[in-house]
Formats: sequence, structure tokens, C-alpha cells
Amino acid sequence: MSSLTKGPISREIYTERLLHYIYDWVVLGFNMNYLWRCPTKSVLLPFFKENFSTNHLDCGVATGYFPVACLESNDGSEQGEEREQRLTLLDFNPNCLRTTERAILSKVGGRCRSIEIECVEADVTAPLPKALQDAKFRSISMFNLLHCVPGGATHKLRSFRTLSRILDSDGGVLVGCTVMGEQYAARWWLSRLAVRHMNRVGVFHNLDDNREDIEKALGDAFEDVQTWLVGMTLLFKASKPRVDS
Ligand SMILES: C[S@@+](CC[C@H](N)C(=O)[O-])C[C@H]1O[C@@H](n2cnc3c(N)ncnc32)[C@H](O)[C@@H]1O
Repeated sequence: MSSLTKGPISREIYTERLLHYIYDWVVLGFNMNYLWRCPTKSVLLPFFKENFSTNHLDCGVATGYFPVACLESNDGSEQGEEREQRLTLLDFNPNCLRTTERAILSKVGGRCRSIEIECVEADVTAPLPKALQDAKFRSISMFNLLHCVPGGATHKLRSFRTLSRILDSDGGVLVGCTVMGEQYAARWWLSRLAVRHMNRVGVFHNLDDNREDIEKALGDAFEDVQTWLVGMTLLFKASKPRVDS
């Protein structure tokens, strides 16, 4: 893995120190609960667990909170001490890949008979990296990723088509969640101030993100699409990649 070179603030912000001491408490604890009103423990984690398979690709990993929690728990049909797990981590920030890989190996390494972790340093909006061109996954996640990606809906949502090409066409699922734009904060002044602030400093790029654009882009890439709005966060699940996509 390379060392972190200069780039946009939404990439540079994830220093090893932030990931180690702050990220889970602030982003997944306070922000999800009180700003984006979609609690991590009662909403996002069960949603991730339901859709986590033994051949999983996680895009945009930060600390790896979600895959680590899945691997630590023993519930679920494919979970348990004896599983053989293949987990691919994709992120454009090497700090995030390193932190997540370390967390998995230290917290859950001994529980799986075999755990194969592959780290792919890549931008999710770019064409498929070489390392993934021949891959197929049973499940793919992109949690809290799209609201960080600059460039407008057309640019960031092209990742759905890209990922649809490496999803198992027979029963594979792509799941994710993303914080919606300012119009979804109409009822909550603190959320409105926060989403504006995050965009002003360049950590978020989601002021105009909306459910219709996301549903349309998902529908262009997949035959089956479901979305749910929880607070200001849109959860989505898609399967059956379109062959023409
Ligand atoms: C807010 S964190 C979400 C992390 C984790 N999925 C979660 O829900 O806690 C966003 C992550 O996506 C990564 N990221 C942001 N934009 C990306 C891009 N264009 N390509 C790949 N990774 C990206 C960041 O480096 C960071 O690890």
C-alpha cells in the first residue's frame, strides 16, 4: 500500500490518528444518531449484517467498523467460528485500508478457519481497477461513501454501474447508505447547519443529493432496487445487475 499523497480534503482527513481515536465515536456515534438521524447500532449495523456474505467487497472502509462487527459476531447463516471468509477492501486512502486490515486481523483473525483479505487502493468512481476486473462478489457494500464523493450525481453514481459488473448475477446484493442533501434537513436545524458546514469545508459533497437521482442510477444498473429513508440517510439495496449496463 502506498503512503498518502496530497489530495482532496475528503481523502486527506482520514489520518491514522483520526481513524484510531475519533472516527467511530464521532462519525458513527454522534453524527449518525444526532445529525443524520439514522443510528448505527440499531439501523445500519443490522442492515450491513443481513447482507454480508463470505465473499464480500466493502467500498470506502475508514476503520472497517461494519465488516469487523460482522466478523466478530457469531449470528447469521454464514457466520460462525468455522467459516472461510474472503473480504476485499476498496478505498482511495491507504490509511483506511491499513487501519481496517489491522483491525480485522487483530480482532477476528483467529475466529475464521481461513480469512483472505485483499486491499485495493482505488477510486470508486474510476473504471474497475485491474485487481477487480475478473472478480465476482456475493455481496458489495458502500456505506457512508457517496456523500463524500465530489463531482455531482452523474459522476459519483456511475459507481453503481461499475460495481454491478462484479456482482454475482444470481443472488448477489449491493447495499449502501448515504447522507442526503440539504433539502432533507428541513425539519432539523442542527442537521441543516451541519450538512452545510461539512460541504463548506469539503468533507461532504452532497448538498444537492436526492433520492430520485440515486433510485434512477440504481435502476439503470440493476433490475431489483429498494430504498428506505431513515432520518436524512438513504439506505439502498440492489440485485440482478442489468446485462446491458
Ligand atoms: C465516511 S467514510 C465511511 C466508512 C465506512 N464505510 C463507514 O460507514 O463507517 C468514507 C470512506 O470512503 C473513502 N472514500 C471516499 N471517497 C472515495 C472514493 N472516491 N473512492 C474510494 N474511497 C473513497 C474514504 O477514504 C473513507 O474511508
